[in-house]
Amino acid sequence: MSQIPTYVTGVPNGTEKGLYLAVDLGGTNFRVCSIHLNGDTTFNLTYTKVAIPKNLMTASSAQDLFGFLAKQIEQFLKIHHEDHFEAHIRRRQTVTSPDGYRDEHIFRLGFTFSFPVQQSGINKGTLIRWTKGFDIPDAVGKDVCALLQQEIDLLRLPVKVAALVNDTVGTLMARSYTSPGKTSTLLGAIFGTGTNGAYVEKVRNIRKPIGGEYDKSTGEMVINTEWGSFDNQLNHLPNTPYDEELDRDSVNPGYQMFEKRVSGMFLGEIVRLALVDMLKRPQSTLFTDANSGTNDWKSTTTINPDTGLFKQWGLDSSLMSIAAADGTPELSTLRQELENTLGIYSASFEDAKAFKDVAYAVGRRAARLSAVALGAVVLQSNKLNESNEPVDIGVDGSLVEHYPFFRTMIYEALAAIEGIGPEGAKRIRIGIAKDGSGVGAALIALVAAGMEKNAV
Ligand code: BG6
Ligand code: GLC
Repeated sequence: MSQIPTYVTGVPNGTEKGLYLAVDLGGTNFRVCSIHLNGDTTFNLTYTKVAIPKNLMTASSAQDLFGFLAKQIEQFLKIHHEDHFEAHIRRRQTVTSPDGYRDEHIFRLGFTFSFPVQQSGINKGTLIRWTKGFDIPDAVGKDVCALLQQEIDLLRLPVKVAALVNDTVGTLMARSYTSPGKTSTLLGAIFGTGTNGAYVEKVRNIRKPIGGEYDKSTGEMVINTEWGSFDNQLNHLPNTPYDEELDRDSVNPGYQMFEKRVSGMFLGEIVRLALVDMLKRPQSTLFTDANSGTNDWKSTTTINPDTGLFKQWGLDSSLMSIAAADGTPELSTLRQELENTLGIYSASFEDAKAFKDVAYAVGRRAARLSAVALGAVVLQSNKLNESNEPVDIGVDGSLVEHYPFFRTMIYEALAAIEGIGPEGAKRIRIGIAKDGSGVGAALIALVAAGMEKNAV
């Protein structure tokens, strides 16, 4: 795995204060937030969220994507921080050397960029590769903070990109800020469009050279594991024909093999491929009209051929959540959704039950693999043996938030891991750090602003 040193050398304790800006390019949405840290473990968050236009995910140039992000920042500032904006413009007009002064009206911005980046400082890092369906070749190898700063400067916005943050690192920081206590948070993890984890490691255990400046006083550094790329060689991961087909038709075959079995972007597609295979089998009665008197699925199917079931990515993972949550005796909610979203008309109870069982198998496998990743970090930290305190983990992302029983299935699997067991699993505290990475990015921007001050 990449195991990327992040230059973040400590987690917050809840007393941090100030107004910061954060932007968050996750997998599906782009968010711009301003965060007022109150210094008493609470914060006030103002944010706007837009879906990232699909055409920008595979845009022909990085400028298209980063230009769009800068434009969103401009709109946010105009709507929510007009005073700040105006004050900055006035100030610029009165100062002869705009680059030479420290302007209190310049926002320090934490940039949550949820892709693998080789960091070389708190606000510097080059993109290693795209994941989660993004594919803009000319950005690879470039400093993503510089790409964003360029576009911000073109719009003359009062914003300095102060910190570069992976969403998992942001989640870790945010969880630590909001639930401080005797135990600080060990790990921040995302189970959403993609999956990944970042944890606090002792610097003496880090074998990679860490160049550049960082605060050495804590003896610790947060590591972004990029566990989505665990076992790309498939020496350990389960592999089915559906996993193989999904990978073959993805934009990055052979990469993110753990993520392709765990995260929300992919689970619906695995279910879809399994269902299509099932219904093409000669004896299959799945989604067929029982009264037609023939076994040919094409002539008996109750599915509109133009809808999602026959299209790549056509089955959204949220349908799995609906299946898991439907406790009605006739599975009527799920049957209605199968019709609404996949065009499967008059699905029988047996059809819906088959769907629910396949979705459960795919979802449960994902939860158990997630537990492997979390458990590995807990074991590596030795925290279960070092004290009797709970081991705290902050999580975020649509899968863990909306897929029913995901955390319960993770706990079942943690209890089965050698070295953790049922007693150890009880001491692992997994809590949602909702919208964590915005707050986390603000916290890191705060640390970065402190470093800047010390350097002056
Ligand atoms: C959001 C975080 O809450 O969760 C993002 O702010 C993160 O940084 C996202 O990427 C993950 O969830 P999803 O489901 O949008 O990928
Ligand atoms: C992908 C990205 C990673 C991110 C994760 C969750 O795995 O490579 O950086 O943290 O998705 O969003």
